[in-house]
Amino acid sequence: MSDIIVAVDGPAGSGKSSVSKEAALRLGWAYLDTGAAYRALAWHCLDEGVDTEDADAVVARLADFDYSIGMDPQHYFVRVGGEEITRDIREPRVSAVVSHIARVPEVRVGLNDLFRRLMAENPKDGVIVEGRDITTVVAPDAPVRVLLTASAEARMARRSAELSAVSAEATAQQLASRDAQDSRVVDFMNAAEGVTTLDSTDLDFEQTVLALLDIVHART
Ligand code: C5P
Repeated sequence: MSDIIVAVDGPAGSGKSSVSKEAALRLGWAYLDTGAAYRALAWHCLDEGVDTEDADAVVARLADFDYSIGMDPQHYFVRVGGEEITRDIREPRVSAVVSHIARVPEVRVGLNDLFRRLMAENPKDGVIVEGRDITTVVAPDAPVRVLLTASAEARMARRSAELSAVSAEATAQQLASRDAQDSRVVDFMNAAEGVTTLDSTDLDFEQTVLALLDIVHART
């Protein structure tokens, strides 16, 4: 197991993926993006023509889900069955259905086992793990646990900028609907006991990375 686990949770558009990845890069640690696994399973279901609202069919796909990732932030990739889908999992068609599969309890248990195995196999001194339930379910005993938040307006502005081809309004609606669906399954809007809240509303990317690194250094 990595000596140090840094658990980071937060809603869509909070910047947790890019901030966690950059912080891991600067620390020379590994980076585990748990949302990528949920997205990859959703992509796999779409690829196989599986109805993502059919929980039994989704759980059946978990059995042959051949998932591999690069946890080195410099060589980050996501593959399913050997096919690289690092970019594909960010497509709106995947974002639109990922919450369907994330609410299935067997999927969460299966992916959490996978995350714990990946953390255990990590050869680096530390790992930054980010998602929705890392501080509470996946690694509740992590020495550093952070909830990265930002106002709804800031999150939507950031996500719209990322997906310039999609209209800002459609993006905002999709983000709000995904957060609403996801927060029925796990609470990532309120910090659990012992979790440090980092509000990035008025911080730029660099300031947020430095703030996260300060928290890590203060607790390790
Ligand atoms: O972090 P990202 O937005 O890429 O996550 C995609 C989706 O994966 C979320 O909308 C949520 O449905 C699911 N997810 C989850 N638990 C996690 C990480 C992601 O349910 N730990």
